[in-house]
Amino acid sequence: TKKISVGLLGLGTVGSGVVKIVEEHQDKLQHQIGCPVEIKKALVRDLDKSRDTNLTKEKFTENVSDILHDPEIDVVIEVMGGVEETRDYLLTALQNKKHVVTANKDLMALYGSELLTVAADNKCDLFYEASVAGGIPILRGLVDGLSSDRITKMMGIVNGTTNFILTKMSNEGKAYDDVLAEAQKLGYAEADPTADVEGLDAARKMTILATLGFSMKVDLDDVKVEGITRVTEEDLQYSKQLGYTMKLIGYAHRDEEEIEVSVQPTLIANNHPLAGVNDEYNAVYVYGEAVGETMFYGPGAGSLPTATAVVSDLVGVMKNMRLGVNGSSAVAPQFPKQLKADEK
Ligand code: NDP
Ligand code: HSE
Repeated sequence: TKKISVGLLGLGTVGSGVVKIVEEHQDKLQHQIGCPVEIKKALVRDLDKSRDTNLTKEKFTENVSDILHDPEIDVVIEVMGGVEETRDYLLTALQNKKHVVTANKDLMALYGSELLTVAADNKCDLFYEASVAGGIPILRGLVDGLSSDRITKMMGIVNGTTNFILTKMSNEGKAYDDVLAEAQKLGYAEADPTADVEGLDAARKMTILATLGFSMKVDLDDVKVEGITRVTEEDLQYSKQLGYTMKLIGYAHRDEEEIEVSVQPTLIANNHPLAGVNDEYNAVYVYGEAVGETMFYGPGAGSLPTATAVVSDLVGVMKNMRLGVNGSSAVAPQFPKQLKADEK
């Protein structure tokens, strides 16, 4: 078989992790998909920036057409972030019959339905496992692993930056600004960390989780959001004294009548498993009517954990290519069509 050619949009924290995993796990990838994988081009903003990657400079481009209109590129991996411009790029990629893998929750929370429809119309895969909870395979867990159950509640720590900040402030007495700067340096925070600390990043992820978990389209605008910017060191110390730990919790619940989704700082009893989720780690507690309680836990941000989810999606695309079933959602987390009231 020929090789699989990949175009990367973005070569920052996650993109450089993708390059590393594709390079270092090439044997395993080839074994699973039966041919080599090559990163053919990588879109960047600044060609001269020094980068922590083995990808050679002649593969860098500032011109997105070099990727979107290259007929040899089979799969576009989007790890650049942003919404409107990125949406246009991915629509073009799909219309040009390129499969897409993205880590972009901002984009998927707003335009997931549209992009998935265009993907299916073009018989292309669009996978986005890395968009929620970094290296934890939570989307496949919901859509495949728990597909036979009726999920009624999810509670999660789904933002690594804020969990890192709250942990370091609470356990080590560090100052908010210092820990935020550390989270940025470690590559956990968004390019503009406002979305992290104001809770919007977690709200986007809860929108995706609720849409997939409850099989109903949930709008980001309907999510109640409060971030951690008003949490003080005193709040954290008092919580501790009372036997609780403060966490930024995403909550999604449904009953017969309605769905409720929110993100807010919440006191968690110290004997609850979510209280022990520290640093950049994430966890999602899922309650299903049949299965009962399950918890998905792991690194929620950072270069290699997130890149693992991205490259696993790439493997999913390539397996589908071999089977000739791309775009049919065989293993894809798929946004559901809006259900009619009597189907809910
Ligand atoms: P970075 O800021 O580290 O990297 C972004 C990359 O995209 C850079 O290489 C940048 O180029 C390039 N880029 C950005 N905008 C443009 C543009 N308009 N044109 C061309 N190139 C562009 O971001 P991350 O790697 O941290 O995040 C990437 C995506 O992954 C985001 O959607 C983020 O939300 C998501 N994500 C991130 C996680 C993390 O832990 N960091 C975890 C899960 C998801 P240049 O290098 O030249 O500036
Ligand atoms: N900024 C995000 C976080 C990256 O801190 O969780 C992972 O989505």
